[in-house]
This record gives sequence, structure tokens and C-alpha cells, in this order.
Amino acid sequence: MKKWLLSCMALILVLSLAACGEKKEAADIVIIGAGGAGMTAAIEAHNQGAKVVLLEKLAFVGGNTARAEGGLNAAGTEYQQAAGIEDSAELFFEDTMKGGKEKNNPELVKTLTEKAKDSITFLKENGAELSEVGRAGGASVDRIHRPQGGEAAGNFMVVALKKRITDLGIDLRLNTSATEIIKNDKGEVTGVKAMDKEGKEFTIDAKKVMITSGGFGANFDMIKQYDPKLADFKTTNAPGALGEGIVMAEQAGAALVDMEYIQIHPTTIPGQGVLITEGVRGDGAILVNEDGQRFTNELLTRDVVSQNILAQNGKHAYLIFTDKLVENNHATEAYFKQNLVKEGSTIEELAGQINVDPANLAETVKQYNGYVKNNKDDQFGRESMKLSFEQGKYYAIEVTPGIHHTMGGIVINTKSQVLDKDGNVIPNLFAAGEVTGGVHGANRLGGNALADITTFGRIGADEAVTEINNK
Ligand code: FUM
Repeated sequence: MKKWLLSCMALILVLSLAACGEKKEAADIVIIGAGGAGMTAAIEAHNQGAKVVLLEKLAFVGGNTARAEGGLNAAGTEYQQAAGIEDSAELFFEDTMKGGKEKNNPELVKTLTEKAKDSITFLKENGAELSEVGRAGGASVDRIHRPQGGEAAGNFMVVALKKRITDLGIDLRLNTSATEIIKNDKGEVTGVKAMDKEGKEFTIDAKKVMITSGGFGANFDMIKQYDPKLADFKTTNAPGALGEGIVMAEQAGAALVDMEYIQIHPTTIPGQGVLITEGVRGDGAILVNEDGQRFTNELLTRDVVSQNILAQNGKHAYLIFTDKLVENNHATEAYFKQNLVKEGSTIEELAGQINVDPANLAETVKQYNGYVKNNKDDQFGRESMKLSFEQGKYYAIEVTPGIHHTMGGIVINTKSQVLDKDGNVIPNLFAAGEVTGGVHGANRLGGNALADITTFGRIGADEAVTEINNK
């Protein structure tokens, strides 16, 4: 064929693609969602030489990770050792399975509990050192890792990971939504369709696709579909937690699991859904009801503490703590700034601020101080009691349970590969984080979300790069 004719045909093709507004691009790995899992996977894959495109539908990164406060569970870390805490992957496994009512996929839990300590190292190497260790509900020992001074861990991680993404020059596309996962006629994933801020659709051909777009804790249609009892609850979730990644994966043939398990977190602000971190109870706060009486071991798993609060008059409770706790838990600073905290210079004065009988509250606190002294909670068997209420300025926050985590989602294996309804790997498709199901069973332990996203985000990226290199 004549050269001029070929050139004309090529020009016509380019012009007609441009006229349709269609762009076509190529990458090694497209990652959908720039929360903690997506940013972790992007950094890990990039550092191994992959060309990564990281899509984020919102104008900012972070997802639910930016709202996570407590920290990251890991066993056998240098920080636990330095603090003299004896822990093991086996104990972490047992706690996680028990917390999840044994509904978890044990293989995924084994991977999580063995590898989470490497996530602590990864985060340290990437500017987010979680060097302080505290207690979370359902944990047999202090295992939840957070920044020094108890700053909220999720936002701390997001700031560090975003900086690293920028420093490494990773191709992050904000305001860009994935709309479809593309497969070829052999059933292999070959890329994604996406839409930019202007509504322009384009395609990215990719050797691997990873879905890290989060759960559906802010999508009330899905909440009603999977657990109608929660329809009237408020949510702690970021507005982007709408579950589109789950729907997209299902359209691409992925199996879903545990969709009916939606966690309510015991301590959120009534009518607002603002999260009050479990770290406040972990650091020693107690819960009292309208009568000024304790009604639960505050460090039981979230499902149990939530139900115990819902059984109280008014379905609410008060978290009680002192200025000593505030000194060591900087996450609490935000609660003061948002005017969520009542205070008193005596326990009786505090009781007046929250309309609780002062004598009752004083008696509760006196009794509890005795338990702290004897290191034995005769009433509810609480094991970790780090705060006594003998002196100080006293504080209270009114709390009620709110929607916090969706345990169900896409079925994955221990390499973060997505499985179809027959249990087969969907070639080239990966998922990590809250978009997946199976890791947490019927109830997630506090500290296991940040562990999940960083651990399976890294593992998925490693496997994807290995597969690319072995091709
Ligand atoms: O209570 C919290 O700080 C929440 C932690 C988590 O969901 O893991």
C-alpha cells in the first residue's frame, strides 16, 4: 500500500478517536482507589519497577483510612519487644478469629496475623512510624500500634503515604472514577474504563488491575439491602465509601462474601456519627449509663459493647476519663476542638454537666478505683485498667453506636487475587482492604483494618509484579 494512503488512514483513526472523545492509555498496574490500601499497593509496585496508575474518584486521597484513629494491630514487633509485651502471630490469630465469631477465612487471618509486622516496617520506611503500643477491644495483649503521643493513626498514615506517592512521582489521578473492569474473551482482565472530571471516558490497558476502593459504610441503599436494622444509624465513614468497587468486581465475575456483616462501633457522637476512638477506652476510660453506673467490660469486642450500650436507657452512654489520659492520647484533641467534651473539676461537677446523679457517679468511680488498685475488676472482669480516677480534671463524652465497617466484600485468596463464584482466580484481578470480605468474619477487631489494608495491599502488589515479571 502506498505510504501516503497509510498515513491518511492513521490520521483518520486518530481523528475519529479524538472526535469520540476516547483516549487510550497503557500501564502495568491500574489501582482503583487511593485510600490506605491503594496508596500502599501503588508504592510497593512502583518500587519494584511497575508503571502504576492510581485512580481516585474524589478530589483528595485517604478514603476511610483518613478517618481511622486507633492504630494498626501487629504481633512480634520491635515496639512490643521494647515495651516487654509478649505476643505472637498465633495469639493474634486466635483473638481475630474469636472476635470475628469464627466466621473469618482462617487462611486470610493467618496471613494477616503473620505478616502485619512487616506492614509496620513498610510504614516506618515510608514515613509513618507507629511506635507506641496500646490496647484495643478483643485483644489479649497490647498490640495496636499508633504514632507517639497517640495521634490519630489513619490520618498520620495518609499524610505520609501521600507524600511518598508525590515524591516518587506515581501517576495519581484525582477526580477520576473507574467505571468498568475490562476482560477479554478468555476471561482475563485486560484493563479498566474510567471517567475523568470533565466526564470524558477513557480506557487504560493494564496487565493487572487492583481494586482498593473501600467498603459501603456510607451507602445507605446497600446498608438497607444487607442489614435493614441499621437503616437509621449514623455512619463514621468517609463520603466515598459507596461500594462501587464491589459492584464492579461482581460484574466482572467476582464472588462476594459476608455482605450481611456490618459493624457498629460503640462510641460515636449521637446524631453525627463522629468516631470517638476505641483508644480512649484502651487508655483507660470507662463507660457509664444515665444512672452513672458501669454496665459492661469496656474492652470487649465492638459488637458486644455496642449491644450493651443499646440496652441502656436512651441507647446511649458516657465515656468518662481524666486529664491524665488526654496528655497521652492526642487523638482526643479533636474532640475538644469540636466541643464534644463536658468537663468538671470534681466527679460530682462532671455528673451535673451530663445530668447524671452525682452520688451514683462518685460511687461508681470509687469502686472502680479500687479495682484499678487491686488490678481486678470484680464487676465486669476488665483486664486492662490503665487509668484511675482519684484525681484530675474529669471529662465525659456522650456516645452511641454508629455504622463503622463493612466486613463483607470481594472474595480474595492469600495473594490478594480475586476469586470467582467457583473459587477460581480471575486472571490479573486483585483486591485489598475494606472492599474485600473474609478477613474479619462477623466482627472486625479494632486495629485490624489498618493491618488489613497495608498487609494485603502490599501482598497484592508483590504478586502482581511477580506475575508481570514472570510472563
Ligand atoms: O476506634 C477506633 O479508633 C477505630 C479503629 C478501627 O476501626 O480499627
